[in-house]
Amino acid sequence: MVGLALARAGAEPHVTARSGARIVARGVSHCFPLKTGTLPVLERIDLTVEPGEFVALLGPSGCGKSTLLRLIAGLERADVGQLTHDDLPIVRPEPSRIVVFQDPTLFPWRTVWENASLGLQARGVLRSQRHRVDEALALVGLGEFATALPHQLSGGMAQRVALARALVNDPALLLMDEPLGKLDSLTRLAMQSELVGLWRRTGFSALLVTHDIEEAFFMAQRVIVLSNRPARIVTELRNDLPYPRHRGDPALNSLRHRTLQALGLDGTW
Ligand SMILES: Nc1ncnc2c1ncn2[C@@H]1O[C@H](COP(=O)(O)OP(=O)(O)OP(=O)(O)O)[C@@H](O)[C@H]1O
Ligand SMILES: [Mg+2]
Repeated sequence: MVGLALARAGAEPHVTARSGARIVARGVSHCFPLKTGTLPVLERIDLTVEPGEFVALLGPSGCGKSTLLRLIAGLERADVGQLTHDDLPIVRPEPSRIVVFQDPTLFPWRTVWENASLGLQARGVLRSQRHRVDEALALVGLGEFATALPHQLSGGMAQRVALARALVNDPALLLMDEPLGKLDSLTRLAMQSELVGLWRRTGFSALLVTHDIEEAFFMAQRVIVLSNRPARIVTELRNDLPYPRHRGDPALNSLRHRTLQALGLDGTW
């Protein structure tokens, strides 16, 4: 548990790297039961997230992205296929795999600090690990707001509390389901950079669900493009641009074009 060991000195919180999770999905298919039959949502998905890698899942609305994330989190079991975390089958949710959703869902009566401490409290380790809450809040730049209540925060700050709440668990895999989807466009751009910074300062593996092509390529090292439901992998594109990245980089434009081509949407580009 070294992921949040912050250096006490210096303005920038420094975090020692821990090894991120290796996640493998093999031949994963999933259906949901409907009154009239079954709804196939995922079709033979094969994917790997290497330790410490940042991967984005990009696909049209309703194609099955959140479902795949839930299976990887262990919130649901796949109908067909195998999912493993460091070679062990994923059978239930674990604090080492944390999901951050679009909505920060903070308890309005709890302070920022108390909201961020929820995971430790639930595991009964808060008393011995209170420092981790301070460290996680410092990591997301909210050290000064520990005693604030959620209604006193902006949307971006609330989402940073949700991130701190995830990071106190020292996740080996951070699963993000459109975590910036409800933010205004300027805050969203700032948070994209912040999230990448967080990931670079820690060692977790990251899997980001988004339907924003720019966001996917700005942040991730590899983008997996999914088809309409039932989701299949249409293509996978690597982005080896070094960080920090620049939004105007022609290479990003070219990756965007290739993705639209893969989705058959490049007609007007
Ligand atoms: N628990 C469930 N029971 C039945 N159908 C479900 C359930 N969860 C999801 N679905 C259906 O599965 C399909 C895929 O849903 P999912 O939430 O995975 O899509 P998504 O790609 O995340 O979409 P969005 O981009 O809009 O968030 C949808 O048609 C949805 O209605
Ligand atoms: Mg979704």
